[in-house]
Order: sequence, then structure tokens, then C-alpha cells
Amino acid sequence: MKTIVIKIEDNQEISNREKIHTAGKLIQDGGLVAFPTETVYGLGADALNPDAARKIYQAKGRPSDNPLIIHIASMESLEKIASFVPPMARKMAERFWPGPLTMIFRKKDIVPMETTGGLDTVAVRMPGHPVALELIQAAGGYIAAPSANTSGRPSPTLAEHVAEDMQGRIPMILDGGAVGIGIESTIVDFSEQTPMVLRPGYITLEMMRQVIGELKMDPGLIEENSDVHPRAPGMKYRHYAPRAELVLVNGAQEKVQEKINELVRNAALSGKTAGVIATDESCGYYECGIVKSIGTRRDEDTIARHLYRILREFDQQDVDMIYSESFSSLGIGQAVMNRLRKAAGQRVIEV
Ligand code: TXA
Ligand code: MG
Repeated sequence: MKTIVIKIEDNQEISNREKIHTAGKLIQDGGLVAFPTETVYGLGADALNPDAARKIYQAKGRPSDNPLIIHIASMESLEKIASFVPPMARKMAERFWPGPLTMIFRKKDIVPMETTGGLDTVAVRMPGHPVALELIQAAGGYIAAPSANTSGRPSPTLAEHVAEDMQGRIPMILDGGAVGIGIESTIVDFSEQTPMVLRPGYITLEMMRQVIGELKMDPGLIEENSDVHPRAPGMKYRHYAPRAELVLVNGAQEKVQEKINELVRNAALSGKTAGVIATDESCGYYECGIVKSIGTRRDEDTIARHLYRILREFDQQDVDMIYSESFSSLGIGQAVMNRLRKAAGQRVIEV
């Protein structure tokens, strides 16, 4: 299959609309289209068409028990697919939609089991990216979309990343440039009594508590509980992972830098190439290895935005090892550390 990449240009409303309509038609006809959202690129299909949903699993090599998020563009669409939307969830939608928040509800029969990985609940998100919203409308209102990477690889934050993984496997990629946030949406389960966070993201616990008060954290996400399975099926796999072995070094900043210098030297002695994930502040302290700044500690949004791109760059440079500094676990840092820990497969050195 040939993959066409269609560029969405700034200030070209009319031709962009045509392009997005062509893409929407392709989805209505049961095809797959990768498209930008504000978090990461998604791989979209008609969420109400079981055959189309199946194609997503095939293209990604995704286990079929891992459910998809349905992307909508209006609140009316939510009523058609969720059998009960609690008042707290409506408040969340008012505050955070369109935006990087996914909510889980009991599903209606119209949603096929192929989309929900066999579950009787459905994950729903109204994305905040104009191209995504227009595409959803053009496609009939319901797009099932996981991140547009091969299963297990870092999520794509550029159309080029999508092409790396999906070239020849899907008919179309809409290229809307770099995404703004860079890590996947926050997921909150509203299908039971107390809302529970299943995946941390850009919308933090503190932001949500201000709107609805109490929220639980999935016990399977808390580091010490490594024997408890996370509730979101996708969170149990080694995930977001580069091909190189990633090791996270945690502790006081100076000690972390010393330790990483030592690790890189040792890697070199045993004939391995190593990459270092540093920050604008620490870049200059490293003596060898391929050193990349992920962003600045003064603005942790930058760290989230560049994380996946850096992991993919190290893959392209074919490093054997990646040593990464740790980041604050507050705010967006909680999501960053969740992804880094998963990418490291729990290889963490405390100094
Ligand atoms: O930001 C995002 O959410 C991106 C963009 C494209 O919207 N999408 C995304 O999808 O990250 P994906 O498929 O890569 O991750 C969806 C996660 C998986 O961990 C999946 O197991 C979980 O959501 N999930 C989906 N439906 C669920 C359900 N009904 N119950 C529990 N977990 C669910
Ligand atoms: Mg994903």
C-alpha cells in the first residue's frame, strides 16, 4: 500500500478543508488516516465500524485486548455512545474539553466490542486540535484512534514519526506539523463510583481536584505496587520504549550527573555507545556520549513536548544505552516520569 502524506498549511483554510474532507471520506469508507492532535498523532478509523477498528490493531501490531479511545467533536456525540455520564464528568468536560482529557463511561450497544477491546466501557475524548476536530466531523462524528506508533514504540509527535512506523501500512497521513503537548491525554475512569485516574497526562490531579474534588489514583500506577496490574489494559505493556536500553538515574542533581558520566564511560569501555538525556541547565556537565537536552527545568512543559522525539532520535543514531536524568514528579512531571519509567522498564538507579 502506498502512503500519501498530505500537508496542512498555515492560512490555507479552503484547501485544508478539502484535504480534511478527503481524509474524512476515506475514514467513512472504512480506511485508516493518521492525524495530528494536541497530545500526539493518532491513527484514526470509524469507531462504529468493527472492520475498520480491526485494521488499526493490524497496522499497529497491537494486542486485541487493548481498547481504543473514541474521539468526538460535540457533546451530542457523547450521549450516543455513553450509557451514563455522571454530573462530575459533565463538569470535567465543561472545563477541559476540547482538550487532553479522556473519560471512561459504560458504553451503549452501538459501540462495537472491536473498538473497546471486548470491554463494556468506552474511552472518549474531544481533542483540542482544529485539524482533529474538523476530521472527526468530516468522518461522521466518531474516530477511534490510538497513538499512531507501532505498538510498544514511542508515540509520534511529528508526521515524520508516523511515517517511520506506518509507511506502507496505511493509505494517508495528515501532516499538521509538531504537536503542542507531546504526551498522551490524562485518562479518568467515570464508570464506577469514585473517579479514578488510569493514566497521568497534561491535565494534572491538582487541576482536576479543583473541578470535582476527590479522585483516586489507579493503585497499579503507583511505583511501589509493581505487582498490581494497571486498570487501563495499555498501561501494562512495556511501552513508549526506544530500542536502546534506557536507564533512569534518580537523586540529587550533582550526584546524578556524576553517576551518568561514570555510566557513559563504562559503556564506552565495553564498546557500547551511549546517549544522555539532559536539560538546558545540565547539558554542559557531561563529558562524553551523545548528549541531548530534553528542555528546561524552568518550564516542564518543554520536557513533555520533546521526550518522544528524543527517544526516536537516539534510535536513529543507533545508541546501545540511554541514560536519563529524572524530573520532578509534580504537575506535568508526573506524566513525564510515568512514561520514562515505563520506557526504562523499571531500570532505575538511585544515587
Ligand atoms: O492523547 C491520547 O490519548 C492519544 C491521542 C491520539 O488522542 N491517544 C492514545 O491512545 O494515547 P492509545 O490507544 O495509545 O492509549 C489509550 C489507552 C490505552 O492504555 C488503553 O488501554 C486505555 O487507553 N483505554 C482505552 N479504553 C479503555 C477502557 N474502556 N478502559 C480502560 N482503559 C482504556
Ligand atoms: Mg499509545
